[in-house]
Amino acid sequence: MTTLTPILSAHWDRPDSYTLDGYRATGGYQALRTALAMEPDAIVDAVKQSGLRGRGGAGFPTGMKWGFLPPDNPNPRYLVVNADESEPGTCKDIPLLLANPHVLVEGIAIASYAIRSNQAFVYVRGEVVHVIRRLRRAVAEAYDAGLLGKDVLGSGFDLDVVVHAGAGAYICGEETALLDSLEGYRGQPRLKPPFPAVAGLYASPTVVNNVESIASVPSIVANGAEWFTSMGTEKSAGFGFFSLSGHVTEPGQYEAPLGITLRELLDMAGGVRSGHQLKFWTPGGSSTPIFTDEHLDTPLDFESVGAAGSMLGTRALQIFDETTCVVRAVGRWIAFYAHESCGKCTPCREGNFWMVQVLDRLENGQGTEEDLDKLLDICDNLLGRSFCALGDGATSPVTSSIKYFRQEYIDHVEKGGCPFDHSRATLWGDRPTSTTTERGGNQ
Ligand SMILES: Cc1cc2nc3c(=O)[nH]c(=O)nc-3n(C[C@H](O)[C@H](O)[C@H](O)COP(=O)(O)O)c2cc1C
Ligand code: SF4
Repeated sequence: MTTLTPILSAHWDRPDSYTLDGYRATGGYQALRTALAMEPDAIVDAVKQSGLRGRGGAGFPTGMKWGFLPPDNPNPRYLVVNADESEPGTCKDIPLLLANPHVLVEGIAIASYAIRSNQAFVYVRGEVVHVIRRLRRAVAEAYDAGLLGKDVLGSGFDLDVVVHAGAGAYICGEETALLDSLEGYRGQPRLKPPFPAVAGLYASPTVVNNVESIASVPSIVANGAEWFTSMGTEKSAGFGFFSLSGHVTEPGQYEAPLGITLRELLDMAGGVRSGHQLKFWTPGGSSTPIFTDEHLDTPLDFESVGAAGSMLGTRALQIFDETTCVVRAVGRWIAFYAHESCGKCTPCREGNFWMVQVLDRLENGQGTEEDLDKLLDICDNLLGRSFCALGDGATSPVTSSIKYFRQEYIDHVEKGGCPFDHSRATLWGDRPTSTTTERGGNQ
């Protein structure tokens, strides 16, 4: 039985866990001292050897990303931390920032020193005002203590950190849309290449990393790459947050080695809510194909989840029991994607809009069996044909739910609407479905 590995969450139960004093009392900022005594490239090497892979969803190796910065570019280098966390089900960075913002500040200082950047930004989801306040307070405390600003801890290294509040758009979590938004433009994805490492913020070399990726760096510097690789699997090293939500007895953040299974996590979380059974779940948020109870023993690492037909994503484990209508759940997710589509490309802007119409009519008894083919056809026109991963990701819940629950869709046709007991409000909520106002364009 795999046990938990509380590292980033080790001191969340301290009443002062979010203060500089509280963080220092538990060894905080020792890793920064260690790092500043090292050569920057040695830190990049240590992160490469640790096998740390981006915790923002795609799982790209963090040390390798740092190594892509062109050595001969004379422009300033930037570190940008992605704290836009908005994917349905994903809820790890915000609690981490609330409980322990200094671990991110320390990670930023170490990562910036390693990549030779003197300016870092944290782009935080706009709605979480309480988190923004707490992070800004932590940054101010770090400046006052000489941990940021000019001549960090007397090392000669200068670092400024800006905490920037977004305006609450999911697309601004996509790294290039984030950079456009940070520059003051409407947040829409850029064409890649060039990748941010070559031409990112203000066309300068930029590293964009997730909060949890950067927050994991101090523990790697403090304990060494081997300590990190002693957890997890060979290709998915280390630990991470597994965020359990939905129909589970004890929802919350479970910090555990990659490769743990949902069965093990559910054992620790008191199981599916009393008297109910698991019906379906997401391994990594709503843009990863759903799993069923067949997948309870799939190791939650990048490779195993991929081999089983889904993606590890952000380890956002949303649990749904047998009382949930899968058509309704998928419809709600697609309504989210339709609302959050930035409107730049036609497959996503139109495809998501039309998928909501089809799912809505299935739910409300006006659907036909051909609607299943129509949904799959729309997905076919989205996947691989969208400008960014928002469009691709929106197909995941649709295609995977039809794969595992085709009969439930057909029941909606044969029984004249949703056989489950819930409100028949439209998937768009109270808003009209026939105007263009809700079609894309949320910035
Ligand atoms: C629509 C969309 C939303 C995203 N939202 C986030 C987010 O909120 N936080 C995040 O770290 N990555 C998000 N990503 C992934 C980022 O583009 C990028 O891969 C990530 O920030 C890289 O960090 P990492 O290498 O540390 O994982 C999103 C991607 C897409 C397509
Ligand atoms: S896929 Fe969607 S979110 Fe991405 S660029 Fe196209 S319209 Fe915008």
